[in-house]
Amino acid sequence: MSPEKSVTRFETGEFDKLKSSLVIYRCALKMIETKLTNLNDYYAAFYEGNPIEHTAYRIKSPESIAGKLKARNLPITAEAAVANLLDIAGARIICSYAKNIREIADIIRAQHDLTIVSEKDYLSAPKASGYRSYHIVAEVRPGIQFGEQCCPVEIQIRTSAMDFWASLEHKVRYKYGGQVPDHFSRELQLCAEKINELDERMYLIHELVELVNE
Ligand code: GTP
Ligand code: MG
Repeated sequence: MSPEKSVTRFETGEFDKLKSSLVIYRCALKMIETKLTNLNDYYAAFYEGNPIEHTAYRIKSPESIAGKLKARNLPITAEAAVANLLDIAGARIICSYAKNIREIADIIRAQHDLTIVSEKDYLSAPKASGYRSYHIVAEVRPGIQFGEQCCPVEIQIRTSAMDFWASLEHKVRYKYGGQVPDHFSRELQLCAEKINELDERMYLIHELVELVNE
């Protein structure tokens, strides 16, 4: 039996404020989506192997925003969400090989209309859980209708194998309300190592085939 999951919610007034606050995040996310779609088109047109497998975009649900505020002992208000959460708008780029992750991060960093707020390199330093990915929080300015307001979007870049692992680990973590039993943690850490090895070996095959082609 899994532990009781209590859902934290915004009070009505705050929920309405949150809905208004989310408009700019949707606009910001669409701008990032356009940028990444354009990057994908560029790769598809000019490169033999497109390093981008696929992309995904999401706005954090109000329940999830409330849950995160509660976990951080912050008030369940729209103002606290906007002031403290950088991942209300999120984009994910799934690429073929770990090597592509840094290439894509370099391209994102070089865009003149994005301001990089933070970067987290969980490739060089995986989390204790075994989690690997590269995270960039980039700010965009969605339009003059919002004044000079900038809006952050969290971009996660990872391989298909890392994504497969993260989805399962997230599911296990959710199931146990964040307290993953030791035996599952150990097994997941082991899987993360194996997945990393798999990523490296598949990349090697890819490189060898490229050499043969040359
Ligand atoms: P969060 O409160 O989780 O957002 O942590 P943070 O603000 O310190 O940022 P961090 O870069 O650690 O995590 C941001 C996001 O990365 C999370 O919301 C998840 O989507 C993903 N992530 C980070 N750590 C893990 C992990 O151990 N397992 C899984 N499955 N995803 C993770
Ligand atoms: Mg975060």
